Amino acid sequence: MATKDPAMKQPAGLYLISFTSIWERFSYYGMRAFLILYMANEVIAGNPKSHLGGLGFSDASAGKIYGIFTAMCYLLPLFGGYIADNFIGKRRSLLIGGILIMLGHFTLATDAGVGVFYAGLAVLAIGNGFFKPNAASMIGDLYAPGDQRRDSAFTIYYMLFNGGAFLAPIICGFFGETYGYKYGFLTAGFGMLLGLIVYIAGANKALGEVGKAPAKKDKSVVHEKHPLSKEEKDRISVILVLLFFVTFFWAGFEQAGSTLSLYTDKFIDKTVFGWEIPTSWLQATNPIFIIILGPIFAQLWVKLSKRGKNPSSPIKMGLGMIALAVGFLFMIGAVMQRGGEVQDITVKASLLWLLGTYFMHTIGELMLSPIGLSLVTKLAPVRMASLFMGVWYLSSTIANFISGLAVGFVEQFGAMTIFAGIAVFVGCCGIIVLFLSRWLLNRMHGAD
Ligand code: GLN
Ligand code: ALA
Repeated sequence: MATKDPAMKQPAGLYLISFTSIWERFSYYGMRAFLILYMANEVIAGNPKSHLGGLGFSDASAGKIYGIFTAMCYLLPLFGGYIADNFIGKRRSLLIGGILIMLGHFTLATDAGVGVFYAGLAVLAIGNGFFKPNAASMIGDLYAPGDQRRDSAFTIYYMLFNGGAFLAPIICGFFGETYGYKYGFLTAGFGMLLGLIVYIAGANKALGEVGKAPAKKDKSVVHEKHPLSKEEKDRISVILVLLFFVTFFWAGFEQAGSTLSLYTDKFIDKTVFGWEIPTSWLQATNPIFIIILGPIFAQLWVKLSKRGKNPSSPIKMGLGMIALAVGFLFMIGAVMQRGGEVQDITVKASLLWLLGTYFMHTIGELMLSPIGLSLVTKLAPVRMASLFMGVWYLSSTIANFISGLAVGFVEQFGAMTIFAGIAVFVGCCGIIVLFLSRWLLNRMHGAD
């Protein structure tokens, strides 16, 4: 963060990877904003949206393909990370990932039928697999073990790329839903192109030798013992234990795109000064909160660590889960304001409940997500850093899947039961992590 203390000045590489990631996330969230609409839109006479183009899938198939595609985007980093660590290095992986992502968007922009569409999605998901784990783990490489700037660095990275996540639905959505979806895909592709230009122009200067050689062959890490030492195994076990709990955090968090979005669409009063906010726009709330709150958290960690009071990562993450649980209590407030499970959509709850939920979810995200990325870079054996970043994103694969299932649970058991159930469950996960924190810390062998 902008701090007067020169010891806290962040390396240029952090900003280079962040600026590249802004455009990568811009292209991802931009395309995602109308992907499902593109699949479901039918080009036939009488459809007022025919001019936008589309594939004419049923809603159910569109939803299914959307689910598989987003899950793949978080699954393939496992392979992208492995390939980078063992064969091609992080720098090259990021470049290949970025090029594939750009080509993927341009392929979708051709709007040339179902076959080409699937090919485009596949190229995009593979590109994501190469890009995502290596961006985060290369940031980790910029800092020596024990460097106090690391947590703040990940918070800065997170905050910056959320700028891309915020602009994406607005800009790509505008072109896509005004001139035709293919122009939205095209905009997303140009976004990635911009990111690539920034990356290629700045990499040598800002990154030096970082990420050039595959971690396995990197001379600076050959002193590591093969196979895994006891310490390394302990540290990996910490990642896996936390990963288990974090999956439930993300499953709750990802409801934003599923149950919360559907509830908002029907039962939340979105009228402000006589104008109704489109439901999809409310998806920009989370990135905005990240951008506003990110600097505050980044400063907080720096200040606390200067006083020697920076809480350990498991404590931050446990508190993050509790914050998510508290967020769901606001949704319970919304259900209660409406008098329970009333199906009449003219009975609405205040928008403030939803904003309160997103606010708490964002606080939780900032305590858990950048901290988690940072922790993985501290705990994973250096020669497997990107692979473990892929393992970390695996939690989001499962979480996206669960959040889809939750839509059915809400229909079956009612919103109150599900929101309360998530609050209690994730809250308990957070409390367990707080209790486990000392034990986890011991198993980190001083790496936090
Ligand atoms: N929103 C963040 C991103 O897009 C984190 C997502 C996640 O890890 N599930 O990178
Ligand atoms: N907050 C979500 C993520 O960090 C959008 O990208």
